[in-house]
Amino acid sequence: MTEQDFIPKPYKNSVENGTVTWESPSNIALIKYWGKRDLQIPENPSISFTLSECKTITKLTYTKKNDTKDFSFDVFLDGDKKDDFKPKIETFFKRIEVYVPFLKDYHFTIETKNTFPHSSGIASSASGMSALALCLMRIERLFNSEMSNTFFNQKTSFLARLGSGSACRSIEGNLIVWGATKSIENSSDLFGIKYPYKVHDNFKNYQDTILLIDKGEKQVSSTVGHQLMHGHPFAKERFAQAHDNMETLKPILETGDLNAFINLMESEALTLHAMMMTSNPYFILMKPNTLEVINRIWKFRTETGLHIGFTLDAGANVHILYPQSEKAQILEFIENELVAYCKNGEYICDQIGLGANQIE
Ligand code: PMV
Repeated sequence: MTEQDFIPKPYKNSVENGTVTWESPSNIALIKYWGKRDLQIPENPSISFTLSECKTITKLTYTKKNDTKDFSFDVFLDGDKKDDFKPKIETFFKRIEVYVPFLKDYHFTIETKNTFPHSSGIASSASGMSALALCLMRIERLFNSEMSNTFFNQKTSFLARLGSGSACRSIEGNLIVWGATKSIENSSDLFGIKYPYKVHDNFKNYQDTILLIDKGEKQVSSTVGHQLMHGHPFAKERFAQAHDNMETLKPILETGDLNAFINLMESEALTLHAMMMTSNPYFILMKPNTLEVINRIWKFRTETGLHIGFTLDAGANVHILYPQSEKAQILEFIENELVAYCKNGEYICDQIGLGANQIE
C-alpha cells in the first residue's frame, strides 16, 4: 500500500447532514516510537497494547454548507467550547484533506469527552485523533458503501497517524504494530496492523494499572521530543535496537515468557527516557515518585516472584503491567504501597482491549 491507495475515486453518493459517534481507546507501547521524519513516518517500528477503559468518545455532527472554501468546525470538550483545540484539528484536516476530500463541504461540530480524568497526563491525542478519524471514515463509508472492513481499518489508522503518530495504533485490538520491519509481515510505516502471530494465553486480559504521578502539563511536548532524535548521538543505534527488539519479542509473545517480556518492556521504557536525557537540549520527564515506584516494583518482584513490570509514556506516570492471574496480589500491593506516590492517590485500572466501537 502507498499513500496513493488512500485517495478515493469520485464519490458515488452524497449526504446532506447527519451525526456519528465513536469511542476509541488509548494504547500503551511496549516497543516505543520515538523519532519521526517527513509526514509522521516513524523512524522505528513500535508495538502496543490497545487499552479498554481509557477512551475518548467523539460525536461528529456534519451539515452541508454552501461554500467549499475553508474548513468550518467547532470543538467542544465536556460540553465546553474549546477554541484552543482548533489549530491542531485544522492542521490535521489540512494533512488529510486529499484523502477525505469532502472536508470543506460540511460544517462539523466535534463534541468530545474522555473517560480518564482531564489533564491526568494520559495522552488523549491517541484516543482523540483516532476517534475523530473513525467518525470521518464512517462518513466516507456512506459515500462508498462497498468499502471493506479491512480497508476501513487501514485507512482510519492511516488518517489517525496524520493526526498523532501513536493514534494509528488505537483503531483495533489488542496488539498493534506500526512501522515497517522485516520480522513482522505486512508491517507498514503508513498505518498500524494487528500483530499477526501467535500470542500466548498469559497475555489474555493483561492488566495495566496507571499510576498518575504527575498531572501537570509536560515541560517538553512529544512533538519536540521526536524532533530531538534528529542528529541525536544515539539515534541510529536506538532505531536499530527497536527492530531487534521486535524480533526478540516474537518468541516471547508466543511462549508467554513473562520474565523476558518484563525485561524487554522495562528496557524499552528506560531507553525512551534515556533518549530524552541524552538529547540536546536534554530533559527529564520522570519525577522523584516515578523512581520511587520503579524501585518498589523491583523490590516487590524480587521478594514475591510475581510478574509485575512497568512501562512509561512520555511523562512521569507509571503503567504497571501484569497478568490477570496475579491481579489480586498485585492490586493489593499497589493499594498498600504505591498509591501514596500518586497525585491525590489517583490511579486507573485498565486492561488490554479490543479496539474502537461505533456508538451511533
Ligand atoms: O503519538 P505521539 O507523537 O504523541 O508520540 C508518542 C510516543 C510515545 O508515547 C512516547 C511512545 C509510543 O510509541 O507511544
